Amino acid sequence: MSGNIMVDVRNLKKHFTKGPEVLKAVDGVSFQIRKGETFGLVGESGSGKSTVGRCLIRLYDYTDGEVYFDGQNLSKLGDKQLKPFRRRIQTIFQDPYSSLNPGMSVLDLIGEPMDIHGIYKKADERKEFVAGLLEKVGLKREHLYRYPHEFSGGQRQRISIARALSVRPDFVVCDEPISALDVSVQAQVVNMLEDLQAEFGLTYLFIAHDLSMVRHISDRIGVMYRGRLVEVAESDELYDNPLHPYTKALLSSIPIPDPRTANERLAIKYEVPTTNDGAVPELREVSPGHFVADH
Ligand SMILES: Nc1ncnc2c1ncn2[C@@H]1O[C@H](COP(=O)(O)OP(=O)(O)O)[C@@H](O)[C@H]1O
Ligand SMILES: [Mg+2]
Repeated sequence: MSGNIMVDVRNLKKHFTKGPEVLKAVDGVSFQIRKGETFGLVGESGSGKSTVGRCLIRLYDYTDGEVYFDGQNLSKLGDKQLKPFRRRIQTIFQDPYSSLNPGMSVLDLIGEPMDIHGIYKKADERKEFVAGLLEKVGLKREHLYRYPHEFSGGQRQRISIARALSVRPDFVVCDEPISALDVSVQAQVVNMLEDLQAEFGLTYLFIAHDLSMVRHISDRIGVMYRGRLVEVAESDELYDNPLHPYTKALLSSIPIPDPRTANERLAIKYEVPTTNDGAVPELREVSPGHFVADH
């Protein structure tokens, strides 16, 4: 396999069973992420984006398919063999309020993953490294001994980012990292993620439903609809020349406030066209690098 591929997802399936029902959250997804690139994953709520992200880091065992990371097949590895990959692959979640343990100081929140992976055993080295990271994410050394409740949402997300980067990962799954933040700080956090990517040579999977932000940050974008990828293309190509009817619907949809999350969600009018034999079209390349799953 080509050495410039960081993540290679092949026919990934994750089905949840609830009693007699099978929910096909992810149902045959294939894509590759190149080293150093940002791959955006978009689609409305419930389309399976987070489930893909969780399968990549094996927070979930999957129903079928394979995930290769830097040439290694992670699908069959046990916990012990996965440990180095659990350092190299980190995640930043949407909600900076529930993802940080309220009883831990910033120093320990950021130091904990380092402890797990045996980085910096000496307390003063550990502290200096954490203080340096705090500055890189726009916080200060004096924040080391403070607790999550003393920070705003945007600052908490900066702490989460420092925590993820503390173990020097290669690949970061950013699962809607700005969706829960005030609009005024969203761009700052995105710009910071881009700066950190350049500085540390990171590869990102950037999950989002805010389409303008994902266009800005992503090199390539995959569009998910009901557990499947319906279109993959370079960012500008996808926005300038969307081919799948669902992508077109997504791009023309208007954000509406979602009372459950106080965020905006998208109102999309689209139903997948049904075929006589019920077959789901596979992704095929219609122009260089532009894939669409359509009849
Ligand atoms: N742990 C789980 N158990 C059962 N169903 C789940 C679980 N996680 C996700 N799902 C379901 O899988 C589908 C896809 O969810 P998710 O991946 O969170 O979508 P997205 O991130 O695109 O909003 C949804 O119908 C969701 O309810
Ligand atoms: Mg999600």
